[in-house]
Amino acid sequence: MTRFKRPACLVAYWEGEELRVRDCATGKTSPVLPAEVALLTALTRWRSLAEIAHDFAEAGRRELRAAVRGLLSRGLVISSDRPQVEAERQLSAWRDWSPEATLFHFGTKDLEYMDWREEGAEMERVMAWSPPPSPLKQVRGRQIELPAYPRRGMLPSVLLSRRSWRRFGRQTVTLDQVSTLLGLTWGVQKWAHVGRGIRFALKTSPSGGGCHSIEVYLAVRQVRGLHPGLYHYCPDSHALTLLNKPWTFGRMTRALGGQPWFAHASATAFMTSVFPRVQWKYRAPRTYRVVLLEAGHFCQTFCLVATWLGLAPFCTAALADTLIERDLGIDGVNESVLYAAGVGPRPGAVSWAPWWDRKDVPRTTLPLHRMRRTGARRSAT
Ligand SMILES: Cc1cc2nc3c(=O)[nH]c(=O)nc-3n(C[C@H](O)[C@H](O)[C@H](O)COP(=O)(O)O)c2cc1C
Repeated sequence: MTRFKRPACLVAYWEGEELRVRDCATGKTSPVLPAEVALLTALTRWRSLAEIAHDFAEAGRRELRAAVRGLLSRGLVISSDRPQVEAERQLSAWRDWSPEATLFHFGTKDLEYMDWREEGAEMERVMAWSPPPSPLKQVRGRQIELPAYPRRGMLPSVLLSRRSWRRFGRQTVTLDQVSTLLGLTWGVQKWAHVGRGIRFALKTSPSGGGCHSIEVYLAVRQVRGLHPGLYHYCPDSHALTLLNKPWTFGRMTRALGGQPWFAHASATAFMTSVFPRVQWKYRAPRTYRVVLLEAGHFCQTFCLVATWLGLAPFCTAALADTLIERDLGIDGVNESVLYAAGVGPRPGAVSWAPWWDRKDVPRTTLPLHRMRRTGARRSAT
C-alpha cells in the first residue's frame, strides 16, 4: 500500500502575504494554503490515504487524494513508491543540523553563475553607482603603534609573496611538487590514539574536534609524471587513486563557476566534507561553520606551500557543485564539495598575474605602518 510523508526538512515563511514552504534538501518551494499546512502536519510519519482520512473526516476521500497529489507534484510530500525515499534516508545524518544548516547548505548549492563578461560589466555599473564600503574601520581613541615585525626569512617571505594568480606559465608542474602540495597540506602527519581503538588524524591544519571531515580530490590537467584525470587523495597512505577521466577544458570551466582562467591550471584540488564525521560528534547546526572554516585553513596552507614552491596558486568557491559531485562519484548529501584550490607554473618575467587577459598589475601603495617605517629609515640615511 502506498504511503505518504512530508520530507524531513521543510521550512515555512511568508513572501509578502503568501505562505511558502520549502524543502531544504531539494530546494523545491511552493505557496501553501492553510488546509495544506494541516495536511503536512498529519504527514509527519509515513501514512496511507486511509489513515489520513481519519484525521480529516469532514473531507471527502477524493478531495483528500487530490490534496495529497497536489503536494506530491510540488515536492512537498514524498511517496513510499518513489525514489526520493532513498534521498530522504541519506539525509538522516542532517537531522540535528536542521533546519538552519540544512537550509543554508543545500539552498546555496548549484548557483547559476553569471557569464564572466556580464559580471565584469555589472561590477562596473555597481562601482559607478556606489563605491565599495571602506576597507578600514575608524575607531575612536589613541592608537598604540606596534613595533616592526620581521619581513625577512623563509616564513615571512612566503607569506608576503602569496598572491592569487589567474594566468600560468609554460613550464610543467611536476609530480614531486604535487606530492609536496598534497602531503604538506592534507597528509596525515600522525595518528593520536585516545582509547577504545579510536584514532584522530593530526595534520598541518587544525580541525574542529579533530574530526577532519575534509577529503581532497585532484583534477590533473598537466603534471609531469601523472596522467591527466580525476583522482582521490588518501591522506594516510599519501597516494592517489584514479577515479575518472580528465575533464575537458569546457567541463573544467563549468566546474569552476564559468572561470576559464582557472581551467588552465595544471592541477586543481577539490575539497569536500564528509559531514557525518562531524555530525556524529557535534549536534548543533553552528558546527556547519566549523566545516567551512576548516576548508579555509587547508586552502591557505595549500596557497602558501605553492608559493614556497615558486608556483602560482589560486582558490575559488564558485563551483558547479552537482557536476563535480557526480564526476567524483560522491552523493552530495553526506559528502559535498566546498572549495577548490589550484596551481600552475608561474608565467615568466612577472611578479604576479592577477588577470588572465592582461599582463599589467594594479598600482600598489604602502599601508600607513610601512610608509612610516620606510620614511623613518630614509630620513635616517
Ligand atoms: C573564499 C574565496 C573565494 C574566492 N573565489 C574567487 C573566484 O571565484 N574567482 C577569482 O578569480 N578569485 C577568487 N578568490 C580570490 C580573491 O579574488 C583574491 O583573494 C583577492 O582578490 C585578493 O587577492 P590576493 O589573493 O592576491 O591577495 C577567492 C578568494 C577566497 C578567499
